[in-house]
Amino acid sequence: MTLRVGVCVSGRGTNLQAILDACRDGRLDARIVYVASSRKSAPALERAKAAGVPAEAFPPAANGGRDAAQQLMARRLVAADVELVVLAGYDRILGDAFWDVLGDVPVINIHPSLLPAFGGLNRLAVHEAVLAAGVAETGCTVHRAHRGMLDAGETIVQRRVAVLPGDDPETLEARVLGEEHVAIVEAVGLFARSAARV
Ligand code: GRF
Repeated sequence: MTLRVGVCVSGRGTNLQAILDACRDGRLDARIVYVASSRKSAPALERAKAAGVPAEAFPPAANGGRDAAQQLMARRLVAADVELVVLAGYDRILGDAFWDVLGDVPVINIHPSLLPAFGGLNRLAVHEAVLAAGVAETGCTVHRAHRGMLDAGETIVQRRVAVLPGDDPETLEARVLGEEHVAIVEAVGLFARSAARV
């Protein structure tokens, strides 16, 4: 049975695109049935629409604050009958209102570092911190997301990236992002295959 996936975004949506492409090409036995954004202006919404996927924005200011916005978002995900929620560049902490509505549906998040290293930072700040620390290796992590936890939860997939001499945050980000697109598809694939077994 094709896995029904909901994706939460806030920005450009290249990870969303990687999943959309893999579904379209038959590399994933999954279908994105709903995309929710915290921002109206997120380019990710256009990617969803171009793929024919229903997509809506839930800006807190227009929805009675963060909790009410996330509650509505979770209701829409549940109404779309999702079996997995992917946080793909979703830029807010999910509050109790979200988790209460979502119930047992598994949620996964992608982060641009080898967690637990460099958690809790946003995209470019992660790569800046990696360079400042002088580590030889970084990468990306897809992990389970749970109530009250930020950039923590069981690791599902990690992919490694060497830090090269002369790297700046942008060059490093570009290489890590390439690996993110592989990792996120791999992680959704694991859920799709276990759903197929059930
Ligand atoms: C990625 O680096 C992801 O790991 C982080 O936010 C970024 C989202 O990028 N959580 P995109 O919107 O998927 O292009």
